Amino acid sequence: MKIGIIGGTGGMGKGFALRWSQNHDIIIGSRDAERASQSATEFTNLAKEAFGEIKGTISGKDNVSVAKESDVLILSIPYEHIDSVCSVVLPEIKDSCVVVSPIVPMTKTDVGFEFIPIKENKPFSYQLVLNHMKNKSKLVSAFHVISEKKLVNPTLKLNYDIFVCGDDDESVQVVNGLINEIKGLRPIYLGPGELSYLSEISTPLLLNAMIRNKIKNPGIKIV
Ligand SMILES: NC(=O)c1ccc[n+]([C@@H]2O[C@H](COP(=O)([O-])OP(=O)(O)OC[C@H]3O[C@@H](n4cnc5c(N)ncnc54)[C@H](OP(=O)(O)O)[C@@H]3O)[C@@H](O)[C@H]2O)c1
Repeated sequence: MKIGIIGGTGGMGKGFALRWSQNHDIIIGSRDAERASQSATEFTNLAKEAFGEIKGTISGKDNVSVAKESDVLILSIPYEHIDSVCSVVLPEIKDSCVVVSPIVPMTKTDVGFEFIPIKENKPFSYQLVLNHMKNKSKLVSAFHVISEKKLVNPTLKLNYDIFVCGDDDESVQVVNGLINEIKGLRPIYLGPGELSYLSEISTPLLLNAMIRNKIKNPGIKIV
């Protein structure tokens, strides 16, 4: 499977690339093809150091080329840039492509981490991305509550749940499979995409709990 990561040069992109390159071909996307290529080389070296041989590959290209080739496309970009990026990349994807949004609409204020849709009366991430999807059922929301620090550190033992929201069972199953490939993560389905805000709001909740109570590596686990 070819997994493209739009904005893959960032911290989350690095974590996804390291974890999934063991089994898949990863294409790092960037606004700048050269930067994508440099990140791909760096991540390949890190993956080989961490895991020995990897079965897949990590390469880098500009965001639009990545969108055209991917079977699964991860939108690893900040909330503020959803419209400018998605309006350009999403018209280019294959009809069968599953699109994944881990995007958290979050801001830091005097009181702590807050949820932009409530604070500023704006749409949540899933709603914003959906506007740009041709086949709207292929959008799945996931990975909001796992930090890049945990993904990029292969020696850190994980034991966390990942909330998943989406309308199309087949697309949700593809994402569940990718979550299960990361040892110690378990997919927890919350319901259709319109419930994605429940997952997105979990991140500021978790970060406030972490900062205020000095909890190291917090995550969510339903018991
Ligand atoms: N970091 C975490 O622990 C974490 C955890 C859960 C969810 N998330 C979510 O996952 C997403 C990615 O997180 P991240 O920490 O990796 O983000 P990031 O490092 O801030 O940004 C990721 C990439 O987005 C691209 N980008 C930046 N500004 C842009 C712009 N104006 N237009 C287009 N692209 C732009 C950049 O790639 P190029 O400059 O190469 O184009 C950048 O490397 C975010 O939505 C975040 O809310 C993050």
